[in-house]
Amino acid sequence: MSVVSDINITVTDRKGVSHQLTAPVDMNMNLMEVCRSYDLPVEGVCGGMAMCASCQVYVHTEQYLGERNNDEEAMLDEAYHVKSNSRLGCQIPISTELEGAIFELAPEEP
Ligand code: FES
Repeated sequence: MSVVSDINITVTDRKGVSHQLTAPVDMNMNLMEVCRSYDLPVEGVCGGMAMCASCQVYVHTEQYLGERNNDEEAMLDEAYHVKSNSRLGCQIPISTELEGAIFELAPEEP
C-alpha cells in the first residue's frame, strides 16, 4: 500500500488564472501557507490566526473540508466578499481529503 504524501489542488488567482499546486500532507501546512509558497497573492497578514481574512478562498469542490470553526466564522462575519462557500485558507489543513480540490482566491479586502 502506498502512502500518499502529496496532493494536487487547483487554485484560481484573482486574474482568473488557474494554478496547479502540489502540497505535502505530512508537513502540517494549511492552504494559506501552500498558496504563499507558490507566490500566489495571499497575504496571510495575521499569520494564520483567523484574524485578517486575507486568505479567504471560495471552495469549488464537494470535498469534505470540515466545518468553519468559531474563529473563522467570526472573521468571515466581518469580512468582505463572503459567499456561502467562503473559507479561510489558513483554517484548512492540507490532508489527503483535499486531493483534486478546486479553490478560488476571494478579492482583496478593501
Ligand atoms: S491568514 Fe489571516 S485569516 Fe487566514
